[in-house]
Amino acid sequence: MSEHILKERDDRVLILTFNRPDKKNAITHEMYTALCDGLDEAAADDHIRVVLIRANGDAFTSGNDLKDFAAGLQDAEKAPVFRFLKTISRFEKPIVVGVQGLAVGIGVTMLLHSDLIYATPEATFSTPFTNLALVPEAGSSYLLPQAIGPAKAAEMLMMGEVLSAEEAEKAGLVARLLPANDFAAAVLAKAHALAAKAPNAILQTKRLLRKNHTVMQDRMMEEGQLFAELLKTPEFMEVATAFFEKRQPDFSKF
Ligand code: COA
Repeated sequence: MSEHILKERDDRVLILTFNRPDKKNAITHEMYTALCDGLDEAAADDHIRVVLIRANGDAFTSGNDLKDFAAGLQDAEKAPVFRFLKTISRFEKPIVVGVQGLAVGIGVTMLLHSDLIYATPEATFSTPFTNLALVPEAGSSYLLPQAIGPAKAAEMLMMGEVLSAEEAEKAGLVARLLPANDFAAAVLAKAHALAAKAPNAILQTKRLLRKNHTVMQDRMMEEGQLFAELLKTPEFMEVATAFFEKRQPDFSKF
């Protein structure tokens, strides 16, 4: 499927694994496309009942690949990242996610479109969009306050504060923390347990849990348009340049 997104079928579970550990699993256009193809395959295959998303290496993902983003999104609506967000936000089968290490940006916002999220006690969660001179994406300005409360969501989305695994579990972003030493096996066991349940009951339950879908989709579109515009600004260029020059961005000139 892709060097950086591994796809495996394990009975009724389709597993998608981020496999770009040397770049903290930063997600490129090509990886978004591979993720979408995997989700589309799972949706079309009656044998598959659950998708498991997980990662190799010490990080879940550092979010969007900043090199790809610095190059801009030509046609925002057709960009692989937006195809991925549309696909995952409308996906009807349950998605289980195993988060070890850091989850940044879309590594957090994709969780809001997933169902059962497990994390190691060392995991951290951050959505530093404003630090990047950008705005929230993936419907997170709508979904994150619902998931963890408006105060914590503002801290994450405006200040770029990091949520610890313990806080994420307490706030309700994560279903459960599982020990790091047996994490992959434990998460896979959860995915299989879910896949063994009555499939129609699970699909209907997921549908019922996804409330206000239309509002969320509208918000996601609004965020996406703004996000794509902001990627073209000198402020974002300064952020991207600073990142690869391994220095702090300097906003004093704006
Ligand atoms: N896009 C592109 N490359 C990235 C990346 C990203 N989002 N995140 C990490 N990398 C690359 C680094 O450039 C570095 O590459 P190099 O070895 O060729 O220099 C490598 O991955 C390792 O990252 P490094 O920064 O050295 O690791 P760290 O442990 O010190 O810090 C992070 C990890 C995730 C905290 C830090 O890399 C970071 O802040 N990344 C950007 C996160 C971000 O803003 N994502 C976008 C959200 S919308």
